[in-house]
Amino acid sequence: MSRIAYVNGQYALHGEASVHIEDRGYQFADGVYEVINIDGGRFVDEEAHLDRLDRSLDELRIAWPMSRRAMKLVMRQVVHRNMIKDGLIYIQITRGVAPRDHGFPHGIPPSIVMTAKTFKSLPAEQPDDVGVAAITHPDIRWSRPDIKSVALLPNILCKQKAREAGAYEALLVDSAGYVTEGSSTNVWIVTKNNEVVTRAANENAILNGITRQAFIKLMAADGLSFVERKFTIAEALEAKECFITASSTRIKSVVSIDGKPVGNGHPGETVARLRRLYWTAAEAGGVLPKVPTNIREKR
Ligand code: PDD
Repeated sequence: MSRIAYVNGQYALHGEASVHIEDRGYQFADGVYEVINIDGGRFVDEEAHLDRLDRSLDELRIAWPMSRRAMKLVMRQVVHRNMIKDGLIYIQITRGVAPRDHGFPHGIPPSIVMTAKTFKSLPAEQPDDVGVAAITHPDIRWSRPDIKSVALLPNILCKQKAREAGAYEALLVDSAGYVTEGSSTNVWIVTKNNEVVTRAANENAILNGITRQAFIKLMAADGLSFVERKFTIAEALEAKECFITASSTRIKSVVSIDGKPVGNGHPGETVARLRRLYWTAAEAGGVLPKVPTNIREKR
């Protein structure tokens, strides 16, 4: 079966789909994106992802390319045409196509691309009991990583450093010595007092992950003690557990940082418990509010 992509109003063969060379996404990384999990044919926390897309677009003053309702229809078409049951959908919106000039062009429509692929995460009952290694890296990104922009050059350089070190993720550390997030994930620790800790999302220092928000909600419902605060790599190494979350990764234990073991060097109980909670939630379409607030886009 051929993969199908959606590009600016048309469905095209994935291998032949293309955008204009003067698309500002290509020229300036002038665009935003979302990655949404599909579980059993259902989008996981769809409204929360579209709300964050709305926020990213608003921050960069890019218009919605279509109404939210139409966007949802196209998302479903892309999933349907690619016959995806479990996978990921990728949505990218840029400011559009215009002769190269740094200032915003006037009167051009934004560009939109959607692709989807099958991607099956391990079943809940089969725990990912190996865990992954991480390295540390200075957070060399701009001061607005809260915007889900396609400008990911620092992130990809950090991820590559991790790969070359035989690790899965790079944990980014700010100039004050605190962990912000991973190159493509949010980072958490579980302290010796069984408190789950992750950095707050209110200072624009991290991307407020949708998976992050879902885990916070699941933890509250499950009675796990949770706090949003900064933590250092030394604290992460002292912690019982360290883990990362993202739509594609979902949740993974980080069992070593820069070659040193975290806790006892093995995935722990909290991650196993959170994993089960999240898998159940994902099958039901997620846990975040279904009724969006503060919607400004065209309907
Ligand atoms: N990455 N932080 C960064 C820097 C990210 O790139 C991501 C997501 C996250 C987690 O966000 P969410 O839970 O909404 O997926 C945190 C996506 C999956 C990617 O770029 O592929």
